[in-house]
Amino acid sequence: MDRVLSDGHLPGQWLPQGDHEQMKNSKNPNPHPEHALAGQGNQDKQTGRILARTQQYFAISLQNLRIDAITGFDLYIWMPRSEKHVLYRKGDLVFSEDQKARLQRSKVANLYVAAQDRNQYTRYLEGNLTEIIHNPDLPKEEGSDIVYACASRLVEEIFEDPESDENMLRAQAMVHNTVDHLLYDQENLTNMLSLMSDDYELYTHSVNVCVIGLALGQTLGLSTPELRELGTGLLMHDIGKVQIDRRILDKPEPLTDEEMQIYRTHPERGAAILKQSHRLAHSSLAVILQHHETCAGTGYPYGLEASEIHQYAKIAGLANIFDGLTTDKPARRACASFPALRNIRREMPTDIDAVFLRQLIRILAGVKRGESKSLPPWKGSAKRKLAA
Ligand SMILES: [Fe+2]
Repeated sequence: MDRVLSDGHLPGQWLPQGDHEQMKNSKNPNPHPEHALAGQGNQDKQTGRILARTQQYFAISLQNLRIDAITGFDLYIWMPRSEKHVLYRKGDLVFSEDQKARLQRSKVANLYVAAQDRNQYTRYLEGNLTEIIHNPDLPKEEGSDIVYACASRLVEEIFEDPESDENMLRAQAMVHNTVDHLLYDQENLTNMLSLMSDDYELYTHSVNVCVIGLALGQTLGLSTPELRELGTGLLMHDIGKVQIDRRILDKPEPLTDEEMQIYRTHPERGAAILKQSHRLAHSSLAVILQHHETCAGTGYPYGLEASEIHQYAKIAGLANIFDGLTTDKPARRACASFPALRNIRREMPTDIDAVFLRQLIRILAGVKRGESKSLPPWKGSAKRKLAA
């Protein structure tokens, strides 16, 4: 689309001004139960005794295992008769095509991984993501689920070490894969949108904003390289929050003026952190720096006019507000998608680009958030699921 493609510049001069929104980070206090059974073990998980035992493992699909490569984590198989998991293959051994075929002949669709190896498993998936998302035998929903979970885990690691060059390269590879996945099949877009966690957490919020923004970018006609630049900015749009006091980010009550002033520094802090890496495109940095600017000129940090705001940052701003309204926070319950869109249109008509808002309404028609039929181990918040 012309208006997106034609505006590729950061404005030269900006003036500081106000704010319209406050995003907070909250940790969900309820850990996700690890009843990660699937396939052959499912029918056996009726008793608490068995459930307690299986909580130490989670099921993984054979389709997610790379052939002729070591996993780095041990694989277990569920033995229904003895009602226990038994070591199937040590992590330092290669998993072969022959083994996969034998398991499939025995109608084994899933193997199991010990709960303490969850992070290692996610890194393994991330490292093999390109092959996984292009595997024609992998159900589409499962592919979307893996992309979402890997991205959430990666953002968490980026927030722990935002200046790591390795993390930056991983983020770019993740965005490349996410864009490829979204472009591969229209159904993947719907799957990714329906997967989005509706519990607000900084990590899943970053992924949600990335998915919503990429969906907008894709339907607005951005090219693959443009989507990659947009997606990288979206995934890291709130990176500056690493330098904001947790007590401010987690505060359920309204912020004081002084706290709000500190909170509003996060776009500039984020841009400053990422500028050091020299790996980010100008347009990606614009997303980070300008995602709280508004078309009405009332945003922050610079109170830019609509014409001065990068189009990618306008996409990020809309995705950010939408996800903020549709996720649960300590002070406010989540809105459903369409009431949220109505609120945006009614309450902030001059803040948001009307063309982008109309496009988002079209995209979300028919998408039911949080109703993915994905595998049990990944259901719910990716942060909870992946934190071992
Ligand atoms: Fe933000």
